[in-house]
Amino acid sequence: MSNQREHWGSRIGFILAASGSAIGLGNIWKFPYIAGENGGAAFIFVYLVCIAVIGLPVLIAEILLGRTTQRNPVGAFKRLSGSPFWTAVGGMGVVAGFVILSFYSVVAGWSLGYIIEAMKGTFFTFSEASLAGDHFESLVGNVKWIIGYHGGFFLLTMLVVYLGVKGGIERGSKIMMPILFFILIILVIRGVTLDGAEKGLAFLWNPDWSKISGQSVLIALGHAFFTLSLGMGAMMTYGSYLSEEDNVPSSAFQVLFLDTLIAILAGIAIFTAVFAMGQNPGAGPGLIFQTLPVVFAKMPGGFLFGILFFLLLTLAALTSAISLLEVVVAYFVDELNWKRHRAVMIFGFTIFLIGVPSALSFNVMAEIKWFDKTFFDIADFLASNILLPAGGFFISVFVAWVWGLDKAVIELRKGAANIFERYGWLIVAWKFFLKYIAPVMIFIVFLYSIGVIK
Ligand code: TRP
Repeated sequence: MSNQREHWGSRIGFILAASGSAIGLGNIWKFPYIAGENGGAAFIFVYLVCIAVIGLPVLIAEILLGRTTQRNPVGAFKRLSGSPFWTAVGGMGVVAGFVILSFYSVVAGWSLGYIIEAMKGTFFTFSEASLAGDHFESLVGNVKWIIGYHGGFFLLTMLVVYLGVKGGIERGSKIMMPILFFILIILVIRGVTLDGAEKGLAFLWNPDWSKISGQSVLIALGHAFFTLSLGMGAMMTYGSYLSEEDNVPSSAFQVLFLDTLIAILAGIAIFTAVFAMGQNPGAGPGLIFQTLPVVFAKMPGGFLFGILFFLLLTLAALTSAISLLEVVVAYFVDELNWKRHRAVMIFGFTIFLIGVPSALSFNVMAEIKWFDKTFFDIADFLASNILLPAGGFFISVFVAWVWGLDKAVIELRKGAANIFERYGWLIVAWKFFLKYIAPVMIFIVFLYSIGVIK
């Protein structure tokens, strides 16, 4: 059966597609502002620890489950456990794919729209910071603008997934990821050569340990999950297009390395420019859409750099969105024998529609709230704080305690014999972290995020 399954054409194809999934709004929009709000360097340090001790073990586990079963998350759990409970855990991943993509695409749509704003030169009218904020409010308050770009972004996502694993996702990632990397390098060079850039670098490198609290540790861990696309089977699905010759631990490490590198480079590009232009680094979620346009308005060459920045953000979001849609499509293709094209058209459109109330949460539905949250906030909360941590918890428990580390290690060895021989201690560490550290830490984050502990 696995003969008919499409596979990645090359090892680099998988690495680029999986890092494309990992590198997204999380790295370029979210990471800089949460680092900014939580003490810069000190937060980055905590985040790196979380990535190493929990992110990497779970990432390896997810890719391995996919490769072993050659299935989407539902099929993967079904094959290895035969139990309805674990099959439902896979189903939760597919549901998370619907939910995350629906609101992710709304923010990605803003980024797409901001490419046009940058090209129109709108940023140059922002003589004061408040004007950029007002402009942002007026754009997201405009139903046609917000739905239009949400839809436009969706069409791009559907097009790539429609073209298949090799011809769409792999080919698209091979084109988009190098462009993304190149643009980011240009922006980093621009940032560090600005007068006053050193203040931004100092902010990133000089730790302010007083800002680290239990809460920031938990934010760091939650973000480690989101940024590595863990907890809902995206990496499992991508792993299912690997074959037994592929080296899982080393690929996982490369994906993690690229993801972290891009987040840090994005932080450098953004904070050097923000500080050099005398803006406030702690603006929170509005940092990208409200602070940066002012920065571009003031910076030499800002017209071009503004366009490049939003192009970068859009490409990053696109390669992540395709991984979310692919999870849903793989489920319908594997389990229900749907044709890929049909699954893309039907579920692309459905998820777009589920995203509409999220888009309307910034305008006509802004006052409609449940528990003080708009539809957008609820979708984000449900996915990031409930479905993903729960998924990560179940994945680590499943591999370590249900499927069993002995069987997992036999699978892991395939294609990775060199790592087992040379770095045997890494495998021992992997087992330990997956079995004890990951489930316990994730459980604590979960209790925190639903407000049981404060
Ligand atoms: N990792 C992406 C980002 O940082 C978002 C993402 C894509 C994701 N696929 C995912 C998050 C699956 C969780 C699960 O923007």
